[in-house]
Amino acid sequence: MKGLENKKIFVTGAASGIGRATAQRLWNEGSNLVLIDIPTEEETELKAMFPERMTYIQADVTATDGLAKIQAEIDKGVDVFINNAGITRDATVHKMTDEQWDQVIAVNLTAVFKLSRMCAIKMKEQKSGVILNAASVVAHYGNFGQANYTSTKAGVIAMTKTMAKELGKDGIRVNAVAPGFIGTPMVRKMPEKVIAMMEDKTPIKRLGEPEDIAAAYAFLASEDASFITGTCMNVDGGVVLG
Ligand SMILES: NC(=O)c1ccc[n+]([C@@H]2O[C@H](COP(=O)([O-])OP(=O)(O)OC[C@H]3O[C@@H](n4cnc5c(N)ncnc54)[C@H](O)[C@@H]3O)[C@@H](O)[C@H]2O)c1
Repeated sequence: MKGLENKKIFVTGAASGIGRATAQRLWNEGSNLVLIDIPTEEETELKAMFPERMTYIQADVTATDGLAKIQAEIDKGVDVFINNAGITRDATVHKMTDEQWDQVIAVNLTAVFKLSRMCAIKMKEQKSGVILNAASVVAHYGNFGQANYTSTKAGVIAMTKTMAKELGKDGIRVNAVAPGFIGTPMVRKMPEKVIAMMEDKTPIKRLGEPEDIAAAYAFLASEDASFITGTCMNVDGGVVLG
């Protein structure tokens, strides 16, 4: 894709699933990666996967010291920042604890805001940049047991639109990607029966692959998407059609 070579691209939650597949795709496109996740670099497979053009930052995106480490790297320059890290803590509303609510809001929404704010400040100075955020199709239609998660993903879509309006004049594009059911560790840990139901509800009749989402991030990050901002791209095998 156009314009990804030598670009400095950050990916949060890069040690697993969609984040790791996105890092792989962007590495193949010739980008310079800054990968962020909770484990130490040795605990991940990232160094073996990306022996060059990769910096790893061990950071929790909800922690003050983690954010400070990321800020220091953003201050040196940032072409694209992908807010991919996300968690679930499922429970039906009458059983959901404050902790389950707060943890999901902290990772999926507050961290996205704080990291996007850091990027916005630097990118305004640079007069260029792309911010991409992880939404989900469940933001559009709700999901049993996920009052916390669906709220964050709907919030991310609204935040994306607002930031796109505010930052467009500075040459900054902001978009979201809403995956459907993707076969990552987050989904594969669900019961067989639930996975079969997800496949059946998807018109294309399979779970998505992390690489399907990586392709959308790569496109939105690239110059091929230079007139696209404020959108939420569903990559879902048609599941959102209901
Ligand atoms: N898998 C799906 O079907 C699906 C569907 C819709 C949306 N999404 C979204 O896509 C994103 C990636 O999902 P995935 O399925 O690849 O998940 P995953 O669990 O495989 O990977 C998430 C990664 O984020 C990291 N992470 C979690 N909390 C973090 C924190 N506080 N600081 C830094 N890193 C942290 C984890 O360590 C992990 O490596 C998430 O935002 C998720 O909500 C996934």
